Amino acid sequence: MWAFHNPVRIQFGAGVLETLADSLQGRPYALVTYSDPVFQQLSERVAALAGQPALVIDNIKPNPDFTELEISCARWMSVEQPPEVIVALGGGSVIDTAKVLAAADGNFHRVRRFLQQGTGRDELAVVPIIAVPTTAGTGSEVTCWATVWHSEAERKYSLALPELYPEVALVDPELTLELPLSLTVSTALDALSHALESLWNVNRNPVSSAAAVSAAREIIDWLPALVEEPRNLMLRSRIARAALMAGVAFSNTKTAIAHNISYPITLRHGTAHGEACSFTLPTILRAVSGESAELDALLAQVFGTPVEVGIEQLEQMLHRLGVSTAYQDYGISNREWHEIVDAAFAGERGANFIGKKDRFLAVSNNAQLSNTETQTKTGASAHNPL
Ligand SMILES: NC(=O)c1ccc[n+]([C@@H]2O[C@H](COP(=O)([O-])OP(=O)(O)OC[C@H]3O[C@@H](n4cnc5c(N)ncnc54)[C@H](O)[C@@H]3O)[C@@H](O)[C@H]2O)c1
Ligand SMILES: [Fe+2]
Repeated sequence: MWAFHNPVRIQFGAGVLETLADSLQGRPYALVTYSDPVFQQLSERVAALAGQPALVIDNIKPNPDFTELEISCARWMSVEQPPEVIVALGGGSVIDTAKVLAAADGNFHRVRRFLQQGTGRDELAVVPIIAVPTTAGTGSEVTCWATVWHSEAERKYSLALPELYPEVALVDPELTLELPLSLTVSTALDALSHALESLWNVNRNPVSSAAAVSAAREIIDWLPALVEEPRNLMLRSRIARAALMAGVAFSNTKTAIAHNISYPITLRHGTAHGEACSFTLPTILRAVSGESAELDALLAQVFGTPVEVGIEQLEQMLHRLGVSTAYQDYGISNREWHEIVDAAFAGERGANFIGKKDRFLAVSNNAQLSNTETQTKTGASAHNPL
C-alpha cells in the first residue's frame, strides 16, 4: 500500500512569470526577494506584471537564520493591512523565508516556540505562497517545509506543516539564465541529492521513484553540458525541470542520510548546502548498492550502466565540477567525521536511509585510505576546483 500527495499547482516554462497576475487574482501581495541589483530589476518587472506589492521584504540572505527572520517578520507588521498572499522570488532561502513569514504572520516568536519547544501549533497562521524559484535546486516550491538555521546555537530546524505547500509554483527557466556558474553547480547537485535521497528512502513510492529517476538522470546527463554553455535555455530548462521533479519526489519521502550529514558541515565549516549534501553521494551509493533489489533496479535506470560503473562516473563528474568526495577536503578531522556520521544515522532523516552505518563507514574508511595513498604519491589534494 502506498499514497502520494502534492497539492501545488505547477506552471512550468520559459516566460511563465508573465502569468503571475492570473495566480494573484487581484489579492494584495508581499514580495519577498534578495537585495541584489538583478533582483531589484526583477522586482520592477513583477510590479509591472502584477501591480505594486503591498509590502516588499528584500533583505534575504543565503540560509535564513533566526536573527534575520525576526527582522523580516517585524517588517510584516509595518504595514496597516497585512498582505493576503506572498510572492517568493528567489532560491530556497527566499522561499523558505516566505514559509516562515506565512506561519508567523508578523510574530516570529510563534514560529521560534514551535520549532524549539514543539508547542503553539494552533497559533501558526497560513498565508498562501506563490513560489517563483530563481535557482534550480532546492525544490522548496513544491515542499511543505522550510530549513531554518540558528547558527549561533549551531542548529538547523525544519518548519514542516502541510499548510506550507505553496499554492502555486511558477517555474520559469529563463530566470536562471544569469545564475553564476558555482551556484548553478551547487544548486543542481542539491537537486541530484534530493533525487537520490528519495530513492534510498524507506518512504519511497512508485510516483516519487519515477520522478526521482528522471530527475537524477537528467542532472547527470546534462549538468556538465550546462557548465560549458550556461546561457543555453534548453539546458537551463532541463535542469530546472529536473530540480522540480526531484522536489516532487522528496516532497513525499523527505531527505535521508546525505542531508543529515550535511547540516553540521554547513554550520561549522561554511560549506554551501549543495556541495555539503552531494559530496557523500558516491560513498552512500557504494554503501547501499546490493541492499535492495528494487533500489538496484532504480539506480540502473538512473545510470543506464551497471551501477558500479555509474558510481565511478558520478564520482568523476563531481571531481570535474570541483567537488571533492573526500571529507578531509572540507576541513573535517577523522574524529569529527565519525561524530557527524554517528549523529546523522541516529537522527530522523538518517532513519529514512535504507542502508547501514557500518557499511557506510567501511566504504568511507577505504576511500580515505586510497585518498591518502594518492596524495602521498602525487602530493596533490583530491579537490579540483572548477
Ligand atoms: N525547503 C526545502 O525543501 C529546501 C530544500 C533544500 C534546501 N533548502 C534550503 O535552501 C537554501 C539554499 O537555497 P538555494 O540553494 O536556492 O540558494 P539561496 O536562495 O541561498 O541563494 C544563494 C545565492 O544565489 C543568488 N541567486 C539566486 N538566484 C539567482 C539568479 N537567478 N541569478 C543570480 N543570483 C541568484 C542569491 O542572491 C544568493 O546570494 C538553504 O538554506 C537550504 O537549507 C530548502
Ligand atoms: Fe537540499
